[in-house]
Order: sequence, then structure tokens, then C-alpha cells
Amino acid sequence: MNVKGIHILTVALLLSCRLVAADAEEGKKLFLARCASCHNVHKKLTGPALAGVDERRPEEWIIRFIQSSQAMIKTGDAAALAIFNEYNQVVMPDHPDLNDEQVRSIIAFVKQEAAAAPKDDAPFDRPGHLTPSLMPLSIYNFPFMVAYVLLIVVIILLLVFLVNIKSIEKKMHESNGPES
Ligand code: HEC
Repeated sequence: MNVKGIHILTVALLLSCRLVAADAEEGKKLFLARCASCHNVHKKLTGPALAGVDERRPEEWIIRFIQSSQAMIKTGDAAALAIFNEYNQVVMPDHPDLNDEQVRSIIAFVKQEAAAAPKDDAPFDRPGHLTPSLMPLSIYNFPFMVAYVLLIVVIILLLVFLVNIKSIEKKMHESNGPES
């Protein structure tokens, strides 16, 4: 393969990585808006925890279930009926407006989220892990504080300079006064 070919391949690979990331991003938005009231990736809420759902069910099944779980239950899908009964026959609302691609992006988000943190290890259980992202805004950010103090000093010097200009000007006026 020549150099150009390698370049094209690299760009294509980078683009596809970006696509996967964008996919999960889109899925995250949909999940938070449409599913998070009943579902969490790691914890059971009104509905089951969704981590690993892509392993226990075929993708096709998940898509159909999310679009209309009740339709599946009525046609006698054994797995759908079983989980419906397991969750005390709480009806999960249909999402007929979500197309297959959108459901796939939700699954991508769930997968990513499930891989990111182990089950019993939610972010709020790891305060140490959260601290670094808070650092840039804190007083302990030394370069920021130095820049901040320098800025104040510069402003004070500027003010002093301006005030002095006034008084110098005044003095010049006074000494020139009689002549002009
Ligand atoms: C009003 C609450 C509610 C909302 C909103 C909701 N679900 Fe559910 N979901 C449930 C319940 C309850 C079940 C258990 C099955 C049943 O009762 O029908 C379930 C089951 C599931 C299952 C099957 C899980 C398994 O282990 O087989 C999937 C997948 C699922 N939901 C995905 C979603 C997605 C994705 C969304 C958002 C687009 C969503 N749900 C929105 C309540 C909800």
C-alpha cells in the first residue's frame, strides 16, 4: 500500500471512531430524555438495569421491545411476557417515534456506560475520582492564581499612573498659568 492509501485508511478509521462516539452521545441524550425516569444502566428502578441487555437479548428484539413492548407481549413473545410479569406488569410506554438507528444509539450508550464503571461503583462512590475535574476552578490552581494576582497588580499600576498623569498635568498648568 502506498503512503496515500495509508492516509486514506487512517482518516477513514478516525472518522469511524468519531461516528461511534457521536452515536453514543446521541444515545445518551435520548436515554436521559426518554428512559432515565424508569431506567438506570447499573441499578434497577421502575424498569430493569440495562447494563448487559445487549448480551441477554438480540438487537432486533430490543428494538422491537422499545418501539412497542405491549405489541410484543400480545403476540406472545415469551421473553417479553416473562420480563413484563417479573416487573409486576408495569407497562413500559411505547416509543414508536424512535427509529432503529436511534435505538441502536441508545444501546451504544448503554454499552459504553456499562463498560465505564463497574456495577457497584457509581461516580458518587468515588469522590477521589471526581476531584481532578474540580481542580481548575479552585484556589489551589497555582498558575491561575498567579495570573489573577498579576492582573490585579497591573490594574492598580495603571490606575496609579492615570491619577499621576492628572496631577502632573495640573502642575504643568499651574506653572504655565501666569504666561497663558
Ligand atoms: C414508564 C417507565 C419506563 C420508561 C419511560 C421506559 N421503560 Fe423500559 N422498561 C420499563 C419496565 C417496567 C420494564 C420491564 C418490562 C415491562 O414491564 O414491560 C422495561 C423493560 C425494558 C427493556 C427490557 C429489559 C430486559 O432486561 O429485557 C428494555 C431494553 C427497555 N426497557 C429499554 C427502554 C428504553 C431504551 C427506554 C427509553 C427509550 C425505556 N425503556 C423507557 C419501564 C420503562
